[in-house]
Amino acid sequence: MARTDYATILAALPRERTQLLPALRAIHAAESYLSADGLRAVARHLFMPESTVYGIATSYNELRLEQPNGRVVGVCTCLSCRQHGAHELLTAARSLADELGGCTVVEHECLFICDAGPVAEVDGRCITGATPERLRAALASPEPPPHPIRPLRTPRPPEVRRVLRRCGTVDPHSLESARAAGGYQALARAQALGPPAVIRLLDTSRLRGRGGAYFPLDIKLQTARRYAGPRYYVVNAEEGEPGVSKERYLMEYDPHLLIEGMQIAALALEAARIYLYINGQADLAAERMELALAQAQASGLLPIPVEVRRGAGGYVCGEESVILNSIEGHRAEPRLKPPLPVEQGLWGQPTVISNVETLCNVPLIVQHGRLWYRSVGTKDFPGTKVISLGGAVRRPGTYEVPFGMTIRTIVEDLGGGAHEGRQLRAVLCGGPSGGLIPADRLDIPIAGGPLADTHAMLGAGGMVVIDDRLPIIEAVEHLSAYNARESCGKCTPCREGMAHMTRLIGAVRRGTADPLALAQLDALPEVITGASLCGLGQAAPMPYLSLRRSFPDELPRR
Ligand SMILES: Cc1cc2nc3c(=O)[nH]c(=O)nc-3n(C[C@H](O)[C@H](O)[C@H](O)COP(=O)(O)O)c2cc1C
Ligand code: SF4
Ligand code: FES
Repeated sequence: MARTDYATILAALPRERTQLLPALRAIHAAESYLSADGLRAVARHLFMPESTVYGIATSYNELRLEQPNGRVVGVCTCLSCRQHGAHELLTAARSLADELGGCTVVEHECLFICDAGPVAEVDGRCITGATPERLRAALASPEPPPHPIRPLRTPRPPEVRRVLRRCGTVDPHSLESARAAGGYQALARAQALGPPAVIRLLDTSRLRGRGGAYFPLDIKLQTARRYAGPRYYVVNAEEGEPGVSKERYLMEYDPHLLIEGMQIAALALEAARIYLYINGQADLAAERMELALAQAQASGLLPIPVEVRRGAGGYVCGEESVILNSIEGHRAEPRLKPPLPVEQGLWGQPTVISNVETLCNVPLIVQHGRLWYRSVGTKDFPGTKVISLGGAVRRPGTYEVPFGMTIRTIVEDLGGGAHEGRQLRAVLCGGPSGGLIPADRLDIPIAGGPLADTHAMLGAGGMVVIDDRLPIIEAVEHLSAYNARESCGKCTPCREGMAHMTRLIGAVRRGTADPLALAQLDALPEVITGASLCGLGQAAPMPYLSLRRSFPDELPRR
């Protein structure tokens, strides 16, 4: 086998620690894993101890430290795909690998096209509606499969498309197409208004972040501006939560909207630089964003420079302080707060971190005004929310709806409800550390924060429908196991507690639990949620709590 030319691969990267993840990703792309020689070359290039480089590399899920046997075939077995035959596909993929030889089969948590499952992957490229025959055909070709095309459904009431309105109508490869549809008019207006007026507009519009915490954007900007520069803006395009793929959609189909939004927000912050942190697997989104950024740059539409950074896996990598660590070249672990990123973020400087959907709302507010923005939604949560609807529903997909719409309207009117002959049992809201809302409680309006007393949150906007084919306790065991695996390990209650909860739930499901198991399960959430550092651990027991509250029939009587 030809030796990898590490020097040439790394030559383009400045010899600074902030380049650690780009360097690891570059070696990984060349070798399909991180060899000991590759890690050594990175350490030498960045003047870092080899042990430190190794320790950091092990904290990113997507970085393999063992050489795979030939081509890599991935099968998603997360909740949506699981309800579309993922386990049967996984068995078939393993048989195919035995038959053909020279390929490695891995199980994936989510491949982020949850509305077209089951989803598999060959050479890092997704195959939607995957079957054993399609996998065989993909492996027969030496080329990776093409990127899947994901058209949006034609909008129909009660959907209200705002941030999604240009997706599918503008050409994502063309700046002219975006400009003909009104692109960059808001940027010019924001430049004329100046930072204080833009922040006032965001304040009176009551724009709240869409990444899950629903915190007002204007307050972040105002707070960060109290501290001396240089200030940084980070665009959180990690979107690593199973069941959610709306931001990939926005970046793939209307990249200039996000660029315009990040420029306006960063101008309001008077930021020195923007870091656009894109999920490590979202290749199509990254390709289109990079092309659009080059076009905008060439046309003088980037007053603030933008640097694209790619992640390398792990649900926790979407947590804002993990992104800061990742950009600086540290382990994928959250930081203690305070200080908040707005006070001391990247390299100790004030940093505002915003979600993609949040920023896509900004040009619309600048262009159409606060009254227009507040004309849909509720008083506390004006505007719209993009929802990724997946699982056992007839019309899964990406939908944009006003805040205040009920989950039932989303699942039944837009999603078409359960499949013929099946019964809808629950909707998982808020991702793997969210809650399961039973079918008879779906009349809850969507808003930030807790959704009534269900242990569910709207979170990033993922909704996974579960029907009567999947026992709720099995779904809860799957979610708890996921949260346990994704724990970064920094806090003992999250690391050990979630693993223990998963073992206990598994034993209860199989009927092998000892009599104290339920009492232990009831005691663990308090310590895990109360003693964990970041939102992952703080919410990880939610699926169990919602099982306990809303599906008592799935548990043995005490
Ligand atoms: C475990 C975990 C994962 C997260 N993942 C994401 C993510 O993928 N994208 C995102 O925008 N926010 C994510 N967040 C929330 C961010 O920490 C942060 O609140 C958000 O990016 C702020 O942007 P916003 O104010 O525009 O919502 C995550 C939080 C936690 C605790
Ligand atoms: S709560 Fe869990 S994921 Fe978050 S820092 Fe602690 S161990 Fe890591
Ligand atoms: S792609 Fe399978 S659940 Fe997301």
